[in-house]
Amino acid sequence: MKIAVAKGDGIGPEIMDAVLKIFNANKVPLEYEMVEMGKWVFDKGFSNGMTPHAKLTIENLGILFKGPMETPKGKGMKSINVTARKTWNTYANKRVFQTLYGVDTVFSKAGIPVDITVVRENIEDTYGGIEHMLTHDVALSRRFITRPGSLQVIKYAFEMAKKKNAKRVTCAHKANIMKISDGLFLECFYEVAKKYPELKSDDVIIDDLCMKLVTRPDNFDVIVLTNLQGDIVSDLCAGLVGGLGFAPSANIGDHICIFEAVHGTAPDIAGKNIANPTALLLSGIAMLRHLGFMKNAAEIENALLYTLEQGIHTGDFGEKTRPPLNTTEFAGAIISNFGKTPAQGAKPLLENMPATTTHFKLEKNPLMVTEEMEQEKIVGADFFIESTEQPDIIARKCERHAGEKFKLINLSNRGTQVWPTGSVYTNLVNQFNARFESVDTAPVRQQDIIALYLGLSGDFKICSSELLNMWGDKRAYSLAQGQ
Ligand code: NAI
Repeated sequence: MKIAVAKGDGIGPEIMDAVLKIFNANKVPLEYEMVEMGKWVFDKGFSNGMTPHAKLTIENLGILFKGPMETPKGKGMKSINVTARKTWNTYANKRVFQTLYGVDTVFSKAGIPVDITVVRENIEDTYGGIEHMLTHDVALSRRFITRPGSLQVIKYAFEMAKKKNAKRVTCAHKANIMKISDGLFLECFYEVAKKYPELKSDDVIIDDLCMKLVTRPDNFDVIVLTNLQGDIVSDLCAGLVGGLGFAPSANIGDHICIFEAVHGTAPDIAGKNIANPTALLLSGIAMLRHLGFMKNAAEIENALLYTLEQGIHTGDFGEKTRPPLNTTEFAGAIISNFGKTPAQGAKPLLENMPATTTHFKLEKNPLMVTEEMEQEKIVGADFFIESTEQPDIIARKCERHAGEKFKLINLSNRGTQVWPTGSVYTNLVNQFNARFESVDTAPVRQQDIIALYLGLSGDFKICSSELLNMWGDKRAYSLAQGQ
């Protein structure tokens, strides 16, 4: 079997060489095709950080094992790491955080074992990177949470939890504030959970989760969450088990999967052969299991655990009284420990677990749509307008354009209602949301909204607008604070 390998930038080549040396010493039956990705490819003029040949190779082989990569700063380039995850729809980012003996943490010293798997949605949320300056003072970032995207990652989390004999799946969210977007994610979670009665399912608000993770991490098992919240919680969990040097990551899609360490290119130590290859090695071990090489995976993992237990370490962790090994020496120590059993017990072979690789060629872009349950009707629009005037003056101007079909419901500023009721203590910025609803929430056509838009544009610069939809009796838009 052949896989694509990109060594990456900074410490990437050093740690990738160390990991491949360990794989080769263990006779892992893989061939590696090196692909051109990373900062040096941006520098050669490829604006997405990879050559067309690299893209084709990865799409043909279905597996990318990659080192960390740097995205040039301040040139408007999108992160190569995010581009790769999104382009190939690796919708689930799985990160396993386990206590490693020999890696001292507050929890290992207190005898509290950590074994948490974070499944982070990997495509949507603010990572769409769709951002606009609406006025000189106001930036807008769009946050997409979709039903098919949420269902896809949540189903993966439950399937994975079942396979690894987990007891509990927890959905973390901020649905108390983002009632529509995080509310949708949470709704999808409980929809999927119904199909897995053997697993305990529950939910927790993200801030509460963070507090609970740093006090009793052993209470958690599998956690599934949206992209940005997942990003933050993953790094928090990395801290629980000893830092980024021990955090592996698998980006799972239906066709293409990417295995990489969580950490970056560590420019401060690059080229010195002192980086810790453990996170990339753990990612590689997860990849071997994904491909069905259970015996190689278990042998290498046992050797790694044994090595760590012996107090052998690189410069970034471990007992300071014992001199650190460099990257090459650390890889050599792991190789010399093949066949040894760690004191905490050998890792199970997991031979009965089927390989999860599912790569096959696609002819066209898969479209994900769920069934429409209720009838949709347009009942108004939000117009985001630029103004430095006081709310009552803006309201008077807006009302002139409402006509017979619409009424001005309210004005809000940064999400807080300032007209018809509000407080003079609410500070204003130069952008307001003028909400128009149809009289008696009767359905209106897009043309009616456009006519309203045209009228308003005579008085204001309209920075952005959104339709107000209703699905059946359910309002598909949020209320302003104080509305
Ligand atoms: P970083 O993870 O590269 O470094 C943070 C700190 O951790 C540094 O002190 C570094 O020396 C240390 N460190 C990281 N990995 C280590 C290892 N294996 N062994 C020993 N020490 C290690 O994060 P930073 O500095 O924020 O980012 C540097 C570059 O990496 C940026 O260009 C960023 O965009 C990129 N990056 C790439 C990622 C990827 O390819 N998936 C992920 C995160 C950052």
